[in-house]
Parts: sequence; structure tokens; C-alpha cells
Amino acid sequence: MKKIFLLLTMTALFFSALADEGMWIPMLLGRNEADMQKAGMRITAKDIYDINNACLKDAILLFNQGCTGEYVSDEGLFLTNHHCGYSYITSHSTVEHDYLTNGFWAMSRSEELPCPGLTATRLVRMEDVTTQVLEGISPDATESERNAIIERNIAKITSNAVKGTHYKAIIKPFYYGNQYFMYVNEVFTDVRLVGAPPSNIGKFGGDTDNWMWPRHTGDFSMFRVYADKDNKPANYSPNNKPYKPLKFLEISLDGIKEGDFTFVFGYPGTTQRYVTSDAVELQANIENPIRINLRTIRLKHYNNAMNQSPAQRLKYASRVASIANGWKKWQGETLGINRLKGVEKKRDFEQRYQSWANDKPQYYNVLSQLREAYKKITPIEVELVYFQEAVRASDFMNRTQMFLSLANLDDDVSIVAAVNKLKNATTNYFKDFDQHTVVDRAIFIETYLYMWQAGYAPYLADKSASKAAVEKKLADIYDKSVLNNERKLMDLLNKYTAKSSKKLKSDPALKLYSDAYARAYDAQKITTYRSAMADIQRLMRTYVKGMMEMQPDVNFFPDANLTLRVAYGHVEGFRPRDGVYYKPYSTLQGIMEKENPDIYDYVVEPKLKELYAFRDYGQYGTTTTISDTIITEMNGDQIIQYKNHTVKDMPVGFIATNHTTGGNSGSPVLNADGRLIGLNFDRCWEGTMSDLLFDPDYCRNICLDIRYCLFIIDKFAGAKHLVDEMTLVKNSAE
Ligand code: ARG
Ligand code: GLU
Repeated sequence: MKKIFLLLTMTALFFSALADEGMWIPMLLGRNEADMQKAGMRITAKDIYDINNACLKDAILLFNQGCTGEYVSDEGLFLTNHHCGYSYITSHSTVEHDYLTNGFWAMSRSEELPCPGLTATRLVRMEDVTTQVLEGISPDATESERNAIIERNIAKITSNAVKGTHYKAIIKPFYYGNQYFMYVNEVFTDVRLVGAPPSNIGKFGGDTDNWMWPRHTGDFSMFRVYADKDNKPANYSPNNKPYKPLKFLEISLDGIKEGDFTFVFGYPGTTQRYVTSDAVELQANIENPIRINLRTIRLKHYNNAMNQSPAQRLKYASRVASIANGWKKWQGETLGINRLKGVEKKRDFEQRYQSWANDKPQYYNVLSQLREAYKKITPIEVELVYFQEAVRASDFMNRTQMFLSLANLDDDVSIVAAVNKLKNATTNYFKDFDQHTVVDRAIFIETYLYMWQAGYAPYLADKSASKAAVEKKLADIYDKSVLNNERKLMDLLNKYTAKSSKKLKSDPALKLYSDAYARAYDAQKITTYRSAMADIQRLMRTYVKGMMEMQPDVNFFPDANLTLRVAYGHVEGFRPRDGVYYKPYSTLQGIMEKENPDIYDYVVEPKLKELYAFRDYGQYGTTTTISDTIITEMNGDQIIQYKNHTVKDMPVGFIATNHTTGGNSGSPVLNADGRLIGLNFDRCWEGTMSDLLFDPDYCRNICLDIRYCLFIIDKFAGAKHLVDEMTLVKNSAE
């Protein structure tokens, strides 16, 4: 009896463990519908994706090539994250008009700011095109023959699909090329900035709180799509009109409670759920530590500079955000993989796979071949990581690379074009050279030194050299290079001809860069690398196919590949470590707890403090009546006791078990009725290994509560006209 009970609980655990993992294909969501409804969803798969009718997918957009947005009005107004709009907010900012720091709110349509280059893509429809893509491939085709045929087929299918329309089509492989889907898209190019909160709201907690819970970041910004008179995509024109989306999201003011069903609808970028133990080992225990250490150096120097002046803060803000983002995520990922014993778990699975495959000629040696291929790429991969993270760490070396390209040109036309480009770049670069050089020089020297000490820059000096000597050598290279002398460099460029290349190439910087490049991109290494990578591609296709045959009852989700997906789960707290339980939501009170006027990331706007002091939350706050406790308060020397008292709160963020990754930023978080309750913007640090392995005990996505977003727009910024464009629904459920 006891045994049966144990068995039952174990199966239950096993199933609940699988429940929240997955990023599902909208077109095939019918397969998940029953499960989603069992989990609490009150709408249908067809409400989410429907080829014949306007549906939720029409309210979702791909923001450039890396974030998600969602329409919230019938006039093209959409929401995404502050960190997604970041570079556009920055590009409109100067020290005088610092929208990044102070926020920006267009009080009328004419104040909305065009963002050249920014695109908003809507999925029109998707289609399984596997048969057509693989047509004409014979079973004994080599990998390159196969790829050539696929490429030809794809070109034909996509051009047929969009003939006579303004649509664009792309085809992407799924399950490592076992399946192909075509996406027909509509790409809008007139996108304007409408609103962004000040940084100390939109980026509250900064890189300190990034990837962490409890979180209090108001990570949102607003844009509007404009279209031509026929509601079709058009480049910027003052005559364009706000786009009328086929569907926009209704917003629920009902809020969330633990256990509520939620789903996230957006564009996750990359996951590697099915890779082997060797791939996990390479990423978590070999590559990540190198990248982390080298970025620690870079961040130290940039952070110093940023604390010195507002101008330097603005200059480095965007690049520091992106360097720090990976840096912190990889730390969480490696810890998470090792806590989960991820590599061992994968090895166990591989053993089971092997026993299953032993009598199957198609599969029996796929794992051993994958192992061979990983053995080949690992050392080369490490070289490449050093090249990216150490050699390319400084602007100095990145500029060197451009000058090296110039030195390698021999036809006059290209030389003239390259020289002109470099003259411009040089003038720009030297505008604040004095300040910047301190930072860049330090980064160059320290990262290079680290690489040399690790044995990856032997061309710099041999092992027996002293650290001080190498440091001196690096400093000399920096100080003596013509690249760091504006007058000499402009002189050289002004007089540049094919003959100058010899002189340029003898510069110590170009020499150093060439040595590094020659080592990392050594022809033989790269040939080995490419062929091993091609092997991995082919072998993974077989491996994953086998995996699916081996477990016919499992509904496999395909790895993320920046195509539209649905992830579903529920609002839930978690235990990050012994003795600690994280509640699933945060409130404005937490912002006040974190407030510290001396630390940039924790400054709280006076206006926000005032709203807090008066609990002036409008229709967005919550009121809880506490009636079962007697409250005793002193008022002067009078004792007041009362029973019913109310607490007003302003919700800020919440966490849920939705399986998300980079690219899901800005994705709508929807409730059981398909109404907007939040914006996805991050994951909890303890669960960042979910790109490789998902653990329902630790993996949580972090969401901005839509009520805080509306509160900021309306009560804080006084931009109520924007909220008025939206459709708010209260007490919709039950
Ligand atoms: N971690 C989030 C993501 O991966 C937010 C990154 C931007 N925020 C920051 N503080 N750097 O995109
Ligand atoms: N901040 C991430 C993004 O830009 C989302 C967090 C994650 O990686 O899940 O997409």
C-alpha cells in the first residue's frame, strides 16, 4: 500500500515537473489545449492562433530582431520593455534633453519621435513546409548537397508565398532540421517612441537587481506604429497614420494571485534543450567561466567611469547593460546547471538512449560520434571565446581590425571608400578621447594580460616573462600606436594610397591584432571546426529524431529560434535556497525599502514617493480589508483599537513558471481569459539554466504587473490620454 502511494506521488511529481516546461508552436497549440484548460485557461487554442480570424497573435509583434511587443490600442500603440526601447530612448537623449534619465512622454501625436531602423513585425500566418523544403534530397546526399538543395527549395517556396503581396517570408528549421516552418510576415518600418519612464523607474535596481527577484523595475516603454493610408507598412512620412491592428489586447485590472494560470506569447530567441552532456559541460563549465572573468574586468573599468560624470554614464550605459547582462546570466546558468547536476543528468539520459539504440543501425553510434565532434571543437571554441571576450574587449582592438581591413585592400576604389569611412570614424572617436582613453587603455591592458596568463597569447611574450614586463609591453603598444594619435592618424589617412599599407601594417597594434587573429582563426583549426560543426548539425538531427522515437508519448517542444511561441504556467513563488521562500509578487513598498539616494540604481523620484505617501494609486492599487485582527494604535496619549482596517498596496512585479528566454522581453503575460496582466522582462537568476535544462522548482519568469505600468503612465507621468486609448477590464473573471 505504502509503495503504491509512493509510486503515485512520484508519477504525479514527474508530470507536474513536465507541466511548465515548453515553448509551443501557436499553430499546433491544439495539442496543448486540453492541458492548458486543465491548468485554468478559459479561452481556446483558436483564440490564440487562427488562420482565418483575427486572434491574439495579431496583437503580438517582433520588436526589431530581439524583443517582443503587443498592441494595446486600435491606434497602433504598443508596449514593450524599457530595456528593449533603451537604445532608441538613448538615441534621442542628450545631456540637455536626457530622456533616458528623466523619461519621455509624448503629450500629443506630433511629439512622438521617429526611430529610423526600428521594425515591428506581425506574423500573418505560418505553415509546415517540411515536405517541400526536403524535396529532392536523396538519402545518401552529403550534408553540403543537402544544404544546397534546401537553400534552393527555400528560395523558391518563400518567393512563391509572397508573390504579389507586401509580405516577407522566412523558413526556419525545427528539431535540428527534422521539420521546417514558413513564416509569412508583415514588417512595419515607421515606429515612433511614445513614452518611457525615467531610468530610476524603467531600470530601477539597474544591473544590481538584474536577473533577480524580488524585483521592482518598471521595465516598460511605449511606441506607436504608423502605416500608409491603406494601413500597410510604409517608411516614415508625416502623412502616415496610426496603424490599425487586427487585434489589440484588453487589459485586466483584476491582478494576480498565487496559482493563477498565465501564458506568455512572444519571440524567445535561443534555447538548447536537447544538446548532449558534452555541450552542456562546454557551455556551463568551460566557456562561461572564461567569459565571466573577462567581463568582470571590463565592467570594473566602465563602472568606475560611469560613476564619475553624467556624460560618461550616458556614454557607457548601453554597452555596460549588455555586457553585464550576459555576465550575470552565465553565472546563474553555471550555478544552476551544477546544482541540478545537469551534466550527470544528461549522461544518464544518454546511457538510456544508448541501450535503446544499440540494435538500431541508424542510431547506435550517433552519441559516440557527437562525443568525438565535441572533443574536436572544444579547444577551438575556447580560442574563439578568448578572441571575442579579450581581444575584442577594447575599442582600440576593434578599431585596429578596421584599419587592418584597410591595409589589406589593393584596389583604389575600395581604398577611397574605406579611407573616407575611417576619417569619419576617427574624428568621432577623438571627440572625447582623453577621458575615454583612460578606460579603454585599462581594459585593453588588463584583458590582454589575463589572456596571456591563461596561455592564450603566447605571441605577446613567452611564459617565463614577468607580468610587469608584459604589462609594460601592452602599455607601449597602446601609447605608441598611430591609431591613438589623432594628428598622425589623420595625416596618414589624408595621404593614404595602396603603398601606405606597409607602413600601416608595421604599427604595433596591427601586428598584435594579426597575431591574435592568426592564432584564433588558424586555417587548419577553422577547417576542423567547420567540419565538426557540420557533423554536429547532422548528428543532432539524427539524435533528436531518435529521442522522439524512443519516447513516442512525449510532446516535444522545439528549441526556441526567434519564432512566435506560447509558454504557459502559473503564478508561483519559490525557494531559492535553504530557509528562504520568495513570494510571487512585489509592491511599491519594496521600492521604498530599497530606496537609497546615494546609489544611482536605487534613487526614487520625489513624485513617486509622494504618490506612495498618500497611497494615491487611483484605480490601479489594491485594497485589502483585514478584519480578523485587532489593531491597536496610539494617537497622542489616546489608545485606539479597531478591527476592520484596510491596507492599500501598489503591485509592481510578479513571477510565474512560464518557460521563457531572451527575446521574450516585452512579451505579454496573459491571464486565463487572454487579457494582459503583465509584461515579461526577465528570469530569476537561480533558474537561468532553463535555456539548457528547466527545473520547475527554480525556473521563474519575472513580469511587470500591468497595473504598475498604468499607474506610472497615468498617475506618475500624467499621460492619462495614453491609458484612455486602452481597454481596461475589471472583475472580468469568474
Ligand atoms: N535580464 C534582462 C534581459 O535579459 C534585462 C536586461 C536589461 N537590463 C539590465 N539591467 N542590463 O534582457
Ligand atoms: N531580459 C530578457 C530579454 O531581453 C528576458 C529574460 C530572459 O532571458 O528570459 O529577452
